[in-house]
Amino acid sequence: MKAIVYREYGSPDVLKLEEVEVPTPKDNEVLVKVQAVSVNRSDWESLIGKPLYARMGGLLKPSHHILGSDIAGRVEAVGSNVRQFQPGDEVFGLLLEYAGGFAEYVCASEKALALKPAGMTFEEAATIPQAGVIALEGIREKGQVQAGQKVLINGAGGGAGTFAIQLAKLYGAEVTGVDNAGKLDFMRSLGADHVVDYTREDFTKNGKQYDLILDVIAHRSVFAYQRALAPNGSCFFVGGSVATLFQILLLGPWIGRTTGKKVRLLVVPSSPKDMISITELYEAGKVVPVIDRRYPLSEVPEALRYLGEGHAKGKVVITVE
Ligand SMILES: NC(=O)c1ccc[n+]([C@@H]2O[C@H](COP(=O)([O-])OP(=O)(O)OC[C@H]3O[C@@H](n4cnc5c(N)ncnc54)[C@H](OP(=O)(O)O)[C@@H]3O)[C@@H](O)[C@H]2O)c1
Repeated sequence: MKAIVYREYGSPDVLKLEEVEVPTPKDNEVLVKVQAVSVNRSDWESLIGKPLYARMGGLLKPSHHILGSDIAGRVEAVGSNVRQFQPGDEVFGLLLEYAGGFAEYVCASEKALALKPAGMTFEEAATIPQAGVIALEGIREKGQVQAGQKVLINGAGGGAGTFAIQLAKLYGAEVTGVDNAGKLDFMRSLGADHVVDYTREDFTKNGKQYDLILDVIAHRSVFAYQRALAPNGSCFFVGGSVATLFQILLLGPWIGRTTGKKVRLLVVPSSPKDMISITELYEAGKVVPVIDRRYPLSEVPEALRYLGEGHAKGKVVITVE
């Protein structure tokens, strides 16, 4: 099969289109013929090897050679213990541990997959596993947003952010989206009531406070977030600098005890429950995946460059012919 392979950390130039063996599913795995796979910041981070946590699988060289974690496709074959799926089923899912989705076929644990609704395209389904789930957890499941609350989403013009704006509006919040100047109108078009250009204004220094902050790209001191939170407010961090993430782990519990403000990391759950919730909201016409660009498999390097250079508005999707 064709796959986009990398054997060292670096720019998109280290990615090569190669012929490799079709993987064989283990007993609990499903072999999926990939139809679409979305590009995530986590792919970019694993490509360049930064922040440091992106090298968890291999400090000097990547241990897994094919990126791409959010896939949608058709079941080609199943392992002997697989009960939920059979060949021909249309599925989508999150392959965070080994990825492998920038390829014509990939193996996935049965537990990582869900059936794709018939009315949703493969491309739309591939946008959901990380971005939709981060947004659902941050806004509804952990964030427990209430009507009338003030919600700020940092990095709101990207993959998770575009789902998060829609969800926060759906549940009645007043939403502030933070991203670069080129994405301000875009965030407004998704429903953001207020927008902030992060290159001109620091939302933690303008005296405003929020009941809920969802930060997909955190790099400030934990005390800056504490300042920007209203009494009893909550802040959830999904990704960002190692220094900030470390501070949150170390100081978050203490801030909670002394101020009543929650400052926590948000980890994407591995079960497909949230992915299914997003498809239900999609079918009810309440959430729409926002696809900025589509690329063929051979152009994964260009797709990653587009995202990494900060141009993507919403999701970038690879369509695998
Ligand atoms: N915790 C977990 O379990 C888990 C699991 C998977 C992924 N993750 C993390 O979740 C995050 C998901 O992000 P995503 O897929 O939504 O990324 P994305 O599509 O790249 O969106 C991030 C957005 O943030 C903007 N941005 C960059 N620097 C910023 C700054 N200083 N202030 C405000 N906005 C800024 C980017 O715009 P520019 O164009 O200006 O760069 C982009 O629009 C990633 O950090 C990933 O590592 C966490």
